[in-house]
Order: sequence, then structure tokens, then C-alpha cells
Amino acid sequence: MKKKLEQIKENAFKELQDKRKDLDIESIRIKYLGKKGELTHILRGMKELSKEERPIIGKLANDIRTALENAIEEASQRIKSSERESRVKGETIDITMPGIKQNIGRRHPLEQVLEDMKEIFVSMGFTIEEGPEVELDYYNFEALNIPKNHPARGEQDTFYINDNLVLRTQTSPTQIRTMEKQKPPIKMISPGKVYRSDSVDATHSPIFYQMEGLVVDKGITFADLKGTLELFARKMFGDKMKTKFRPHHFPFTEPSAEMDATCFVCNGEGCRVCKGEGWIELLGCGMVHPQVLRNCNIDPEIYSGFAFGMGVDRMVMLKYGIDDIRNMYESDMRFLNQF
Ligand code: DAH
Repeated sequence: MKKKLEQIKENAFKELQDKRKDLDIESIRIKYLGKKGELTHILRGMKELSKEERPIIGKLANDIRTALENAIEEASQRIKSSERESRVKGETIDITMPGIKQNIGRRHPLEQVLEDMKEIFVSMGFTIEEGPEVELDYYNFEALNIPKNHPARGEQDTFYINDNLVLRTQTSPTQIRTMEKQKPPIKMISPGKVYRSDSVDATHSPIFYQMEGLVVDKGITFADLKGTLELFARKMFGDKMKTKFRPHHFPFTEPSAEMDATCFVCNGEGCRVCKGEGWIELLGCGMVHPQVLRNCNIDPEIYSGFAFGMGVDRMVMLKYGIDDIRNMYESDMRFLNQF
């Protein structure tokens, strides 16, 4: 019996030494110490022993039971702590790892330049007016001295919605709307989107931005036009910039002109950006045509005015040396992140 007991102890200890994490301690306990366990079975057979043997075997059996209980407790602690350890390892946060970058929004370069342009004119006392992008043919053409069949209509590839309705091809209709609702003195700019059915390439987009300007009062002359626009160009592109005016033609101004500025890249030397000219075309302008004033019930014998229109995309491209207008509309982060 003593041998048997020793054998049980040895077997049980061997089983408990097992280093596997999923070792089932409870079934080992039942196997040896449970009601039908091996050790219990032996103890039950004690009554068959002789008087002398009983206390000796009894003590041995009890010692083995205690040793087994301790070993079981130890093994179950061991398993628990190794479980905890591996759980903590799995949960560890590596604080040296780079975080997930959140992209922060920013203002589009078009919006930034437009903001600069507005600020320059507002500081000169201009108000900001808005007009609809879906515009009556009357405001987009007719009232601006561009009747049906006028060749100027052919130059602006118009999206027609129906015979009377277009997507505005220019911001000039806002001039008319402003003069209709407001008596002189008028001093306004009107930025916004315009549409033309051009095929897309490096310099054409079916949608782009313009900014219109209009000043109407008594005694306005071409000198006012020049002074205003030269100041704008210098504030926009720096004091070193020179401007010049070339005669041009627009149906709604007489006389009309285009204003060029010295190339901001080469300062007039001639380079790739200005195509060797030293000058870059900045905007169209002129003295408001008397017929346009009359169309808005403003007497051209009393009032005169000047107007101008410029492409905002063009200003952005000139300012930053961008050679493809498509950059403005393709939302490419590699482009936008540079601003
Ligand atoms: N609307 C013209 C265009 O789209 C630009 C323009 C030129 C506007 C002369 C004006 C102006 O007000 O006076 O090409």
C-alpha cells in the first residue's frame, strides 16, 4: 500500500509539472483527490490494514494529500499568472509607433487667392455682389450689348438650358443686375463661377472663376480705371510689377482694353511662363458702353463708369506658376497640400 501511495504521488506530480498553458488542473484534482479519486480509494481501504500499519500509512496518505493539494494550488497559480502575462503582452501599446494621421482640411488655392482679391477691392471701398449661375440670356448677353446673332456670342461657347436661359458664361451679368437695383454711385465687384462648353485642356475648363468689377458715378474717366487696376495689380503681385494697357474690343465697353502685367517670373526679361513676351495678360476692361447704361436706366449724359473682368484661376496660376488649369478641379491631394 505504501508503494501504491508513493506511485500515486509520483504520477500526480508528473502530471502537474506539465507546462502546457491549457493544463486541466481540475480534472487532475478529481482524478486523485475526488470522491472516486485514486488517493481517496486507497484511504477507503485503510480499514483492512493492521493496527500497527494504519497510523503509519494514514500519516503517509495525509502527507501525500497535503503535498498534492499544495502542488495543485501552485500549478493553478502558475497557469493563471501565465495567462495574465500573455494577455498583458497582447494588449501592450507601442507608444513609439507613429499615430494615424488625420488629414486637416484647408482652403483651396482658388479660395485663398479669391479672398486676397476681394480684400484688395474691399479696402478700396468696393462692395461684393452676387448673381445667379443659371442666368437669363437677357442679362448674360442682350443687356450687355450682345444681341442675338452678334459674333461675340460665338466666342463664348454657351451652355443653353433653353432659348432664354443659359449657364452664365461671364460674371458681367451681375453688372446689369446691380445697376438695375441700385442708383449710382456704384462701386462693386462680383466673383463667381462661370461656364463654357470648351473641351478640357491645360488652359480650358468648362467651369472656372471670374471676378467682375464695376464703378459708375459722375465724372468717372479712363484715368480712374487705370489707377484702380494698377493699384490692384501691385497689391496682388508686388510693387515691382509694371502694367500696360492694350486696345481691345468688348461689346459692353467703349473704349475697351486689356491690361498686361510684367511677368512675375522673369520681371519682363522673357521666359517660359510669359512665352518670351515679358508681359502677361491679366484682365479685360473698358469704359461702360453708353447703351449698357441706358439699358439700366442710367443716363450716360450724366453718369459714366468703367468695368473690368478677370479670371480667378488665371490669377492663381500666375501667382504660383501653375501651368495646368485642371489642377484646380481635380482635388489631387499632392497638388492641394502645397498650399
Ligand atoms: N466678361 C469678359 C469675358 O468674360 C471679361 C470682361 C472684359 C468683363 C471687360 C468686363 C469688361 O466687365 O469691361 O471675357
